[in-house]
Amino acid sequence: MGAVDQAFIQAQEHRPAKSSSTYAEGIPLIDLSSPDGLVSEIGNACKNWGFFQVVNHGVPLEKRQKLEDSSRKFFGLSSEEKRKIRRTEKQALGYYDTEHTKNVRDWKEVFDFVAKDPHLIPASPDPHDKELLEWHNVWPQYPPELKEASEEYVKELEKLAFKLMELIALSLGLPANRFHSFFRDQTTRVRINHYPPCPAPDLALGVGRHKDGGALTILFQDNVGGLQVKRKSDGEWVTVKPTPDAYIVNVGDIIQVWSNEAYESVEHRVMVNTEKERYSIPYFFNPAHYTMVEPLEELTNEQSPPKYKAYNWGKFLMNRSLSNFKKLNVENIQISHFRISKLADKLEGALSINN
Ligand code: OGA
Ligand code: NI
Repeated sequence: MGAVDQAFIQAQEHRPAKSSSTYAEGIPLIDLSSPDGLVSEIGNACKNWGFFQVVNHGVPLEKRQKLEDSSRKFFGLSSEEKRKIRRTEKQALGYYDTEHTKNVRDWKEVFDFVAKDPHLIPASPDPHDKELLEWHNVWPQYPPELKEASEEYVKELEKLAFKLMELIALSLGLPANRFHSFFRDQTTRVRINHYPPCPAPDLALGVGRHKDGGALTILFQDNVGGLQVKRKSDGEWVTVKPTPDAYIVNVGDIIQVWSNEAYESVEHRVMVNTEKERYSIPYFFNPAHYTMVEPLEELTNEQSPPKYKAYNWGKFLMNRSLSNFKKLNVENIQISHFRISKLADKLEGALSINN
């Protein structure tokens, strides 16, 4: 099958269009240092795009650069060296180079670590299995500064994440700290993505189309570009132009459920190219594993009943984790599996009238 292994080849309809290298107009760029109108800007960006960029975000540039520099050193090692800290089925952190998204292999290698080391997580996706295990970070021997750079970075990103959650809460008419308690035992994870040049960028993707399953993602991308977002207004795939020292923020599935779909998480994917390697660093802000994710009471009522059944975040996460570890023959778990259908609404309505 030509230049790349069959495992990487996307189905025809999911391949990037040849002309898709133009940058999107209109993705909101929000200055977090200007308080005027900030809440409504964030609200509009969440509602209309689900994706936006922030500047003057308070994360010191040198903290990000330190992490970026040490990541480049790590990925520059031989495969043999990197594989010494390779992820296993039970130990989900560290280096990994054969991740699948929706059962197609991604053209990338990653290094994953958690912000709170260690933390608890269900041992399996099985709802009846109550066993928990600890996720521990694993660090490479080289470069030695990767650990410190990572630990310093997550401290800064956590401040930004709480600030964004406060703005999102206010934009939904909720008290600023409404979401805080969900993150007390947070399962936040950071991923360093390295996308090597690819001989067949028209057939493969760096990351296949997906929505982020957590609450909020705060992503740094270098100046190469390749991240594409499915624009809500017309369903077109548009490329997010790299903006120096900006972060890209996207609403995850959990905010979609908490907000009862006032805000929706948006599909995105990553294109690769033949010439340049690319780095990106998403910070996935996630609640405690025991969180039952469901529409917030304050945002539902008789006229707008909850659109989702409650689901357990830890089990959802383990399900996803298993499905990106290896190719499965079943569809990956999605929040739509917990969606209460319109038909069910009607039936329930009819039944309650009869009762
Ligand atoms: C992800 C992701 C985007 C990027 O890792 O979930 O969407 O630009 N990454 O690397
Ligand atoms: Ni993503």
